[in-house]
Amino acid sequence: MHGFILAAVCLTLATPWSAWGALPSADVERRVEALLRRMTVAEKLGQLQQLDGEAEGAARPEHFDLARQGRLGSVLNVRGARRVNELQKAAVEGSRLNIPILFGFDVIHGYRTVFPIPLAEAASFDPAVAQRDAAVAADEASAAGVRWTFAPMVDIARDARWGRIAEGSGEDPYLGSALARARVQGFQGLDYSAPDKVLACAKHWAAYGAAEAGRDYNTTEVSESTLRNVYFPPFRAAVQAGVGTFMSALNDLGGVPSSANPFTLTQVLRKEWGFDGFVVSDYTSVQELIAHGFVADGSEAARKALSAGVDMEMVSRLYGEHGPALFKAKRLSEKVLDEAVRRILRVKFRAGLFERPYADEAREKFLLSSENLRAAREAAGRSMVLLRNKDGVLPLAKDLDVLAVIGPLAEDKAALLGAWTGDGRAQDAVSILDGIRAAVSPKTQVMFARGCEVQGGGSEGIAQALEIARKSRAVILVLGEGPDMSGEASSRSDIGLPGRQLELARRLAALGLPTAVVLVNGRPLALTGLAEATLALLEAWQPGTQGGPAVADVLFGGVNPGGKLPATFPRSVGQEPLYYNHKSTGRPTDETNKYTSKYLDVPSSPLYPFGYGLSYTDFVLSDLSLSAGSIPVDGRLKVSVQVENNGRRAGDEVVQLYIRDLAASVARPVRELKGFQRVSLAPGEARVVEFELGPEELGFYALDGRFQVEPGRFHLFVGDSSVGGLEASFMVLPRGS
Ligand code: GLC
Repeated sequence: MHGFILAAVCLTLATPWSAWGALPSADVERRVEALLRRMTVAEKLGQLQQLDGEAEGAARPEHFDLARQGRLGSVLNVRGARRVNELQKAAVEGSRLNIPILFGFDVIHGYRTVFPIPLAEAASFDPAVAQRDAAVAADEASAAGVRWTFAPMVDIARDARWGRIAEGSGEDPYLGSALARARVQGFQGLDYSAPDKVLACAKHWAAYGAAEAGRDYNTTEVSESTLRNVYFPPFRAAVQAGVGTFMSALNDLGGVPSSANPFTLTQVLRKEWGFDGFVVSDYTSVQELIAHGFVADGSEAARKALSAGVDMEMVSRLYGEHGPALFKAKRLSEKVLDEAVRRILRVKFRAGLFERPYADEAREKFLLSSENLRAAREAAGRSMVLLRNKDGVLPLAKDLDVLAVIGPLAEDKAALLGAWTGDGRAQDAVSILDGIRAAVSPKTQVMFARGCEVQGGGSEGIAQALEIARKSRAVILVLGEGPDMSGEASSRSDIGLPGRQLELARRLAALGLPTAVVLVNGRPLALTGLAEATLALLEAWQPGTQGGPAVADVLFGGVNPGGKLPATFPRSVGQEPLYYNHKSTGRPTDETNKYTSKYLDVPSSPLYPFGYGLSYTDFVLSDLSLSAGSIPVDGRLKVSVQVENNGRRAGDEVVQLYIRDLAASVARPVRELKGFQRVSLAPGEARVVEFELGPEELGFYALDGRFQVEPGRFHLFVGDSSVGGLEASFMVLPRGS
């Protein structure tokens, strides 16, 4: 074996990265079996164990001991090329079988260069943005010795109270699937053994985002039909994109925890989808089976989780502690153990860990390059959504004599990064205040006041803010959430602007100055009061390391915002969960008819719907055309529409195609996104945009779990959001008609 590794290492050094190729699968399987046959039970259980490093990236002494014993399959949070290589050396050169450790880390939206949060990337409606962001993140993370990221998070989220909506692609399965594919391809490339790529991980399997009341970690009650039609598609897209691992979730699904759920982990993921990578549990989620009240003790937790299909245990140690006794008592077959080890070894071989176990320490100095920062700035600009622009307040002139920048988030750098910042540092970020200062002409005097705190705070700041506003020609007001108000364990029962920010906005609005509000936040907010008070509203999300320059690019017109909402903004938190692809019900909302589905105290419509976003120019859609009035169940329908820029600025429009199946064996949503294209048009330019609908778009999972297209009448809508648009209808006819 040593001779083989030496030969492989020589090959590695001589192999240019571009020529790097995945090991043939037959070769991988052969090597897996050969290694598996040589392993003891203790070594096999060791491969199933992932332990946690120190928060800042150091390994622990215990890790070295276990590595030399060949009993540590993976670690998370250990990073830094030199540190990784030190621990890796203990495993590769110190253990009996030389099996490398897999180093994992949460690289969710950047490693050192932090990109916009994934929800913002989704708002670009441009998967290429997410793919490039992930590719840059993989390049930086791999330079630091990271070989595996616990991303993409592909959970569908329909409730904005849930803090982790920030980490995913919002409420729609079609958009979520497109982003899932893009991120997997960005992280892994075509071959995740390449030195600048990392193994990806689709999480959290499954339906973690359906947490009741939007409260993180809460139970979920989701029908199989809704699982298959709403929550599963982005995971399936990740499998089709070749994702190497899955992470089982912390929540229970109707009382069966996702980290011990045979239906999701084996029936769907393995038998139906043919996934052959491995599943890692979420952080102590195997141990938490006890707290769920699903098992009585650690032995049962280990038995149920491993049997159900959780291959690697993150941080808790029940597999190692209880495995030997379970096998000895024949309460758990060693075949189950071997299959879990097989999956992990298979992925390690595919990741090139045996040929290239060590990080190239020379690469680590190229983090935060100007090229990466430029990518982050462009991604942030493409992700912003213009929600309101009354009287054309935006874009602002760059040469105003006095400009007031106000708000608790104007100079806050950490807030720009959001949650899960990898090894990103707030001090690397450019604040919105500094971005504005750098963008305006030298003769413009920029005055700043916080006005209030994000949460709490007295009124003296408001008086000071009003004072500088009165001296200015325009006001930029930067409001929103702190970085710790979204992400994991950060659900909010009230999703309005926190603290006294709305009061500040209203007092400033009363001055009658041209005022633009920039929002920095990690979730849809309930903005009713703010929208009424302000003329211009720009959703900047948590835009990352280059957030300041990117916001300035949009505010002063260097970038014309073209993003659209990937999640619905409600009028009130009381409407949550609120999403566009809802069922019709037997009494569809009619605000004029009491006995229909609605509230007494707030309109049932959202404040800003899914797919909505304005531009500094205007677009007109026309000439909707269908290739036929009817198609057979296995047929295809071509749809075309003309989009024209009839304003004075170049800009992007996201043309969106929705369908509605009017009668099906399971009631389907009033709209389902089945196509989108972001097009850039010069002033006066028109273009025909084409879509195609086939069984993949028209079909759905019926109650028997089968995917099918059912004959009947369909409506289709083509527009610039999930509301309105050009309409048409067509028939789907039975086979052979
Ligand atoms: C956390 C999160 C998961 C993350 C893991 C490792 O609990 O749920 O998304 O990847 O632990 O940090």
